[in-house]
Amino acid sequence: MSDYVVQPGSEVSGTIRVPGDKSISHRALMLGGIADGVSEVTGFLESEDCLATMKAMRALGVHVDQIGPQAIRVHGVGMRGLKPALHALDMGNSGTAMRLMTGLLSGQPFASELIGDSSLMKRPMERAAKPLRLMGANIETLDGKPPVKVSPSNDLHGIRYELPVASAQVKSSVLLAGLYAKGTTEVIEPAVTRDHTERMLLGFGATVDAAHGHVKLTPPQRLQACSLEVPGDFSSSAFFLVAGSISRGGGLTIQGVGVNPTRTGLLDILALMGADLRVVNHRSAGAEPVADIEVRPAKLKGIHVPEHLVPLAIDEFPALFIAAACAEGETIVTGAEELRVKESDRIAVMADGLKALGIDCDVLPDGMRIRGRPDANVFSGGTIESDGDHRIAMSFTVASLRASGPIEIKDVANVATSFPGFVRIANAAGLRVSERS
Ligand code: S3P
Repeated sequence: MSDYVVQPGSEVSGTIRVPGDKSISHRALMLGGIADGVSEVTGFLESEDCLATMKAMRALGVHVDQIGPQAIRVHGVGMRGLKPALHALDMGNSGTAMRLMTGLLSGQPFASELIGDSSLMKRPMERAAKPLRLMGANIETLDGKPPVKVSPSNDLHGIRYELPVASAQVKSSVLLAGLYAKGTTEVIEPAVTRDHTERMLLGFGATVDAAHGHVKLTPPQRLQACSLEVPGDFSSSAFFLVAGSISRGGGLTIQGVGVNPTRTGLLDILALMGADLRVVNHRSAGAEPVADIEVRPAKLKGIHVPEHLVPLAIDEFPALFIAAACAEGETIVTGAEELRVKESDRIAVMADGLKALGIDCDVLPDGMRIRGRPDANVFSGGTIESDGDHRIAMSFTVASLRASGPIEIKDVANVATSFPGFVRIANAAGLRVSERS
């Protein structure tokens, strides 16, 4: 098991880039795999989660070549060309990969089984299985959790599904099954969630109408391969947006970050807290908007985070809780119960870590209340249990900027699931992280 030891009190400055977007990289492999022709993907995230999806697509008969650093070619086999895998598909730590693959496999004329690591084997899968069964898919879970067994269905049909929770994974799983269904598939979201699937389906030539959280897919005869440029992952940039905001000096520019508005809730939340952020140099990477983000240290103030921003910042709360601890006054997060079913229970695990570093916070059923302390040394040193959650490990690394002693973070190997090179990039920005195994 590897740990980080982070020395306190440094500053962050300079210009950095973060690796490619995880959500988009998963989808590029899946849609590229069932398209006709060869899709070239640049900026592909070579993290453990995306490599698990790559391995699964290969096991289903899709040829994927590495053509350069972060560049791959996916040789699509066409919508009807996938072949049964010889073994269970291991999706590693990735809930996204498992739920999206469940949708994709629901439309195949062969049986499949999906498994994962010890964290993934405990995560809820019925949220995707239920709507897929309404579409006629044959899916079994074990008490609602993996393994997920998908058997062929000869009656897959479109549905109109109102999502009970705002989940891009469930929406995407239903849309992927909808590619193979008779009739149109409609998904209605209770709040807008990331729309990478809809944007990418359009790029592959499918007919998708999406507006105001209502998505309608007409099943295509075929998908046409295309070139995709994956932007930097906004969720990986989040650690540095918080680092730049709470640093005692300096300032950072993060180049080439995906700024799809369904992902950038953290920018709005930090702006409400008084952060000094500028989004510049807007451009596009195919269907996705990209920009550079400049951040400078600022005096943050506590806020009640508007609940409509929660799904737009769902992966950024561990980092945001660190910013909240450095803000003047109280920060309250509510309406965020989904945080309890991520790679860890991010409410409980973050609260334990914050308390271990001397922060006064209360756990709420659906969020947290944090009493910030805008002192130079907000955090004491101490030991953090990350519960194997990559985003918790990276968030507490950033806390070192305002700590009075070293922070030891346990069980950090899963940082490689989303952010290969994190230690190198963090140290280049000025943090003082060392990893030991
Ligand atoms: C993701 C959707 C979100 C997010 C996850 C990636 C996706 O999950 O937390 O990291 O790529 O669709 P939910 O749909 O469960 O909110």
